[in-house]
Amino acid sequence: MAVGILLVGGFGTRLLPLTKNTPKPMLTIAGLPVTEHQLAMARNAGITTVVLATSYLSELFIPYFGDGAQWGMKLLYAVEKEPLGTGGAIANAAELLDADEPVVVFNGDVLSSHNLSLQIRQHQENNADVTLHLTSVEDARSYGCVPTDSDGRVVAFLEKMESPVTNTINAGCYVFNPQVISKISRNTVISVEREIFPELISNKARLFGFVDNSYWLDIGTPKALLKGSSDLVSGVADSSALAMADVVLHTNQKLIMSRAVVDESAVIDLGSSIGAGAVVGARAHISGSIIESGARIGADSIVRDSFVTSGSEIAEKSKILASFVTKDEILPIPA
Ligand code: GTP
Repeated sequence: MAVGILLVGGFGTRLLPLTKNTPKPMLTIAGLPVTEHQLAMARNAGITTVVLATSYLSELFIPYFGDGAQWGMKLLYAVEKEPLGTGGAIANAAELLDADEPVVVFNGDVLSSHNLSLQIRQHQENNADVTLHLTSVEDARSYGCVPTDSDGRVVAFLEKMESPVTNTINAGCYVFNPQVISKISRNTVISVEREIFPELISNKARLFGFVDNSYWLDIGTPKALLKGSSDLVSGVADSSALAMADVVLHTNQKLIMSRAVVDESAVIDLGSSIGAGAVVGARAHISGSIIESGARIGADSIVRDSFVTSGSEIAEKSKILASFVTKDEILPIPA
């Protein structure tokens, strides 16, 4: 069996101001934190022990996820006082795990339906040092691109570039042989993408690509965050976390979580989600938006393509288009 490390310690600067008080993986998509959807995916592949590698706003994870028993999992927490980078975070988190099982490392900002069980099996069959999930995108310019040879061996790990040599990119889910992790320097800031993978390749380590083009999305930008949520609501993407959660109503247009009070005359559509205990007033129209738990939307308001954070209030008759709404400010989402 394999164990997991979830990288959830980044600053999430591209999602400011949402990430001022909430770490990116704790932001709500389709009624639940991003991390909850990812843990469900790990569990489906038989991974029940996961270390959350936290740093920025680390204190916000434990009150929600606790020891993981509610999800039938064992969750552990590794806290970096200062972020150690993705490589340093993996080394730090692995200290909480037994040393002899494959370790699956997940970037904490990815929604993916790829076949993780098969990725782990191929890793074992290849006797690999690391097996990386790779996916194909139309435009690879904003991703690290990863060419492989005819045996599936990774031949290079290339940073973002104007003319990528392949459209196969790093999808942010790696199966590691634990001995490879044990060689990463402890308490050192180091990047798995920029330092560890290129070094392993130049040392002829056994790095394999696992190409799977199922649904995949990096939710690290404002538009992608909203898209990820509406994809989960509409069924373009699926998450078994929703089956275990307190969902009151789920159609392909809307998702309404427990204790939300939605006026009968309100219209909720285009993959919107209404978080637990949120209130939506009469004749409000919410389209393609995420309303987090406890937010209040006044009567006759229009909210479109927007993210309304926990506890925020929108006055009656407001018109909120493509914006982030927090308790302090309303900011247009950059184009
Ligand atoms: P941006 O600032 O918007 O780029 O977001 P980010 O800080 O999350 O960085 P990025 O998207 O590159 O990170 C990929 C994943 O690694 C995310 O899930 C981050 O939470 C995580 N991550 C990045 N740096 C660290 C770190 O130093 N420590 C830990 N524990 N996780 C990290």
